Amino acid sequence: MTAEKLLENINVFRDVILDELKQAESLDALEELRASAIGRARGRLNDFKKYLTELPAADKPAFGARFNAVKVEIEAAIDARHAELSASGPASIALDLSMPARRQWRGAKHPVTIVLEEIEAIFRDLGFTIATGPEAEHEWYNFVALNFPPDHPAMDMHDTLYLERGGLLRTHTSLVQIRTLQSYPPPIRIIAPGNVFRRDFFDASHAPMFAQVEGMAVDEGISFVDLKATLANFANRFFGETKTRFRPSFFPFTEPSAEMDVACQICKGAGCPTCKQTGWVEILGCGMMHPSVLEAAGVDAQKYSGWAFGMGPARMALQRFGIPDIRIQYDSDIAFLEQFAQ
Ligand code: DAH
Repeated sequence: MTAEKLLENINVFRDVILDELKQAESLDALEELRASAIGRARGRLNDFKKYLTELPAADKPAFGARFNAVKVEIEAAIDARHAELSASGPASIALDLSMPARRQWRGAKHPVTIVLEEIEAIFRDLGFTIATGPEAEHEWYNFVALNFPPDHPAMDMHDTLYLERGGLLRTHTSLVQIRTLQSYPPPIRIIAPGNVFRRDFFDASHAPMFAQVEGMAVDEGISFVDLKATLANFANRFFGETKTRFRPSFFPFTEPSAEMDVACQICKGAGCPTCKQTGWVEILGCGMMHPSVLEAAGVDAQKYSGWAFGMGPARMALQRFGIPDIRIQYDSDIAFLEQFAQ
């Protein structure tokens, strides 16, 4: 082979190897290429050495120089590709042991959930069972069966979203009284936690969707004394030794009706903005079940009597945890919620 042809071939060889180099996607492939291109034993470059010995003496220095230059260039290119592949490979991710660890997330129960679970535990202890009912209800359960006269002003506070065919989003959990009595005859004691929906404005103490816990006890000879004793016992367990008071009130489904206040937990009864300087906060409405309600649920009101109550766990959470505004409970603000992680 002439020196000229040989030079042409070695240049082609160089181009081919540099091309193959770009295709090598792993360190293994790269090392295989190194061995097959410039390796001592089977490197293809060695073939050119054989031709070198056959060249006329005058052509040897020029071709020898080109041979060495190609070898050096290929070696350098392989080393560079080696560094490139090592840097991007998973095995070589730089480990910085001094880097602070990522903070672990700790799940926390929502304050209203904490309060709900406590309420349930106390009433279970007192022999109550937990009942539930649907959130999308029928007007008959929400109003008629609970003795709301048609268009009574008491319904103004209970405006809600109406659905088709007399359906609505329930405005209170009191109707679980009816649903439960229809399926389970007295004697019976239940509490019914659940969400309710109203046209209430969203302000410091109201929300258009909130949780309630209904309570009901029906048996022969149940009186207001049972109601007062049970609820005072509950308040002492929930808030710790506390004063309670009952004020007369009105609900269509109870007669007589009352509201129960507990001494404001934030100022201990001294008066503060949360209790509007009265020293008391209302936590529930209650009363003796109206005979019409018992009858609507198919219970003999001559034989049985019962009491009921409805409380708002969100307001109780304000008291329990000293939260100034009910809206914070709906914010999903991690800084707020994290404080309840136990
Ligand atoms: N359902 C009433 C409300 O949402 C609360 C209530 C008052 C429930 C008196 C009762 C009760 O069971 O006896 O405002």
